Amino acid sequence: MSGRSAAWFGAEGRSGMIHRSWMRNQGVTDEVFDGRPVIGIATTWSELVPCNAHLHRVAEAVKRGVWQSGGFPREFPCTGLGETLLRPTAMLYRNLLAMEAEELMRANPLDGLVLLSGCDKTTPGLLMAASSVDLPAIMVTGGPMLSGRYQGRQLGSGTQVWRFEEELAAGTITPAECAVAEGAMARSPGHCMTMGTASTMACLAEALGMQLPYSATWPAVDARRDQTAQRAGQRIVELVQADVRPSSIMTREAFEDAVKVNAAIGGSTNAVIHLAAIAGRLGVPFSLDDVDALGRDVPTLVDLEPSGRFLMEDLCYAGGLPAVMAEIASLLHLARPTVAGGTVADALADAACWNREVIHPFDRPMAPAGSGTAVLRGNLAPDGAVIKQSAASPALQQHRGPALVFESPEEYRAVSDELDIDESTVLVLRYCGPRGYPGMPEVANVGLPRTLLERGVRDMVRVCDGRMSGTAYGTVVLHVAPEAAVGGPLALVETGDEIELDVPGRALTLHVDDDELARRRERWRAPAPAESRGWTRLYTEHVLQADHGADLDFLVGAGGAEVPRESH
Ligand code: FES
Ligand code: MG
Repeated sequence: MSGRSAAWFGAEGRSGMIHRSWMRNQGVTDEVFDGRPVIGIATTWSELVPCNAHLHRVAEAVKRGVWQSGGFPREFPCTGLGETLLRPTAMLYRNLLAMEAEELMRANPLDGLVLLSGCDKTTPGLLMAASSVDLPAIMVTGGPMLSGRYQGRQLGSGTQVWRFEEELAAGTITPAECAVAEGAMARSPGHCMTMGTASTMACLAEALGMQLPYSATWPAVDARRDQTAQRAGQRIVELVQADVRPSSIMTREAFEDAVKVNAAIGGSTNAVIHLAAIAGRLGVPFSLDDVDALGRDVPTLVDLEPSGRFLMEDLCYAGGLPAVMAEIASLLHLARPTVAGGTVADALADAACWNREVIHPFDRPMAPAGSGTAVLRGNLAPDGAVIKQSAASPALQQHRGPALVFESPEEYRAVSDELDIDESTVLVLRYCGPRGYPGMPEVANVGLPRTLLERGVRDMVRVCDGRMSGTAYGTVVLHVAPEAAVGGPLALVETGDEIELDVPGRALTLHVDDDELARRRERWRAPAPAESRGWTRLYTEHVLQADHGADLDFLVGAGGAEVPRESH
């Protein structure tokens, strides 16, 4: 008997008896202890996470596959994190999920892992954990919701909420219409079906090689979601037998491809943070400059909300992610391995596009190369900031205007209806970073002042050390690092200062001279810590800045799977 789990179930004497005996209370027969691979199915199921509430069903399909291939599947819960309910932000808890899952994966008698995720933070959280433990692993994301439908038109989750908010404020729709739309938008299990962070991370998990081809796009309720889950169950047993580990799949080349795929799909800015965090666990070099440099050659091909028109169901029927990757194949590392067993080239062998409106051809893109996520630097963001060009207004991408500074989104909202400003103003929203808020919430795309909305203005430049939902849009400079709460230059901006955004020049400049900034720095005082106890205290004391993936400093790198000491 070999394998990691054999140290538990194959043990002689008292310990072996304890390990086997209690497991038998689940009605399993002797064969499960014969040295076969024990597969842990790490699920982020929760009824408080609408996007993941169907993962028990997906897990059952995985289990069928594991049994079929001669493995012993055991489903175990990891912290479910939902974007819609968690306060102050699900991002505060991504590292908690990653830490908890890592510990459970290591402490239990597991030989391989199936990672079940869906909502935004659950995919990177589980990938971070599996990277640090580095046991053979395969991911199965839960799939997107069916397209929303209302008054004969489609409704994309998230994106349309921002639009309804604007239309309601502008008086062009009624509260009653909004209430009906609410029910029409989320009409099946699954995660947001726009190209928000959940869809983006599902696609990137597939692009990295960590989930089976087509797995990112099958709708949550499609029978093929269960089929791909069952296949993943079969595959993980083979991956254990061949000892294929995340570190051999998620290589530097895989991350380079993930950045390119993110550009091609018009993916979420949040992916930049999550990729940096996962790479940090694996010891793969990955910087913001990689994001800008690698993404520059890649046009946006996928016409999905929030940047475009369609939804994930459309992308699925158009050929799924393989059809997108096939378009940019000349830019990808085709010889690298994936969890499917072959190379990326093999994964794309049967790719075909069935709808050129949804997946544009490389030579007739939806947006030209270099219009995805851009990385900005300058005296206002020495360690970088990002902007999603495809979600921003072309006219504002080179803009200079006076700053109007708010210390919190609450402070802004309290006065926004009364603000008498014009659209040249640059709204600065600070203390929204990893340590400041805490947890770096998706608040950067604050709604415009009502006076401007009523005049038909729908966009203005906003600058923030927080994040923006992957489903949102606008000329919003995000992830400004270092953040205000650690004394980044954003903390020194005063209302009336001139700020210049130059996206083509990749610059974000505060037009205040260094002597004046030095004087302001002398006067600056760090805010009091947000919390004196618990997870939030641990988080704020150890969280890294956005450009390092906002992981905790002591979680960077790998811990392996060894636990030499027995429990009894
Ligand atoms: Fe879960 Fe959007 S709220 S994916
Ligand atoms: Mg989100």
